[in-house]
Amino acid sequence: MKTLLIVFHSRTGGTRQMAEAALRGAATEPGVRTRLVPAAGATGADVLAADGYIFATPENLAAMTGPTKDFFDRSYYDALDRINGRPYAMLICAGSDGTNAARQIQRIATGWRLRAVAEPLIVCTQAQTPERIWAPKSIAVADLARCEDLGSALAAGLAAGIF
Ligand SMILES: Cc1cc2nc3c(=O)[nH]c(=O)nc-3n(C[C@H](O)[C@H](O)[C@H](O)COP(=O)(O)O)c2cc1C
Repeated sequence: MKTLLIVFHSRTGGTRQMAEAALRGAATEPGVRTRLVPAAGATGADVLAADGYIFATPENLAAMTGPTKDFFDRSYYDALDRINGRPYAMLICAGSDGTNAARQIQRIATGWRLRAVAEPLIVCTQAQTPERIWAPKSIAVADLARCEDLGSALAAGLAAGIF
């Protein structure tokens, strides 16, 4: 049985919905156990125990969020050189951009020698005013379907031993 680890953080719910959609997609694959873990509680041991990863974060101030960075800070050296070649993908929830958070995670994943199996999946919620920034987010069905497809594709690849 392979394990897929989804690590996520969300302030206003958008990333959470994306990560939960990826979990639903992955759950269709019986040969894979999928764990959805908040970044604040995820550890290096969780990383080591998994066979593949989805990292899900909002973009805040042109960066991954603090709890997401803290997760990488705490787990990076525990996992270094012990997870080489494992597959990963990422989900980014942004107001209007998201590319810099994706770039930051790509650099960390490169250090870990992970293998990207999909382009970063970025969903923009168009939140750019204080009111819209702090409003609870509702991710469109079509975007959730893309997250679900990503989860099922990663899980299927893991189960089949393709990755
Ligand atoms: C402090 C703060 C900074 C933000 N900075 C950015 C940014 O640099 N680029 C961007 O595209 N969106 C930015 N946003 C918008 C969020 O990415 C957007 O609201 C997204 O839906 C948050 O995801 P969440 O609902 O999972 O928390 C920012 C939001 C906050 C609260």
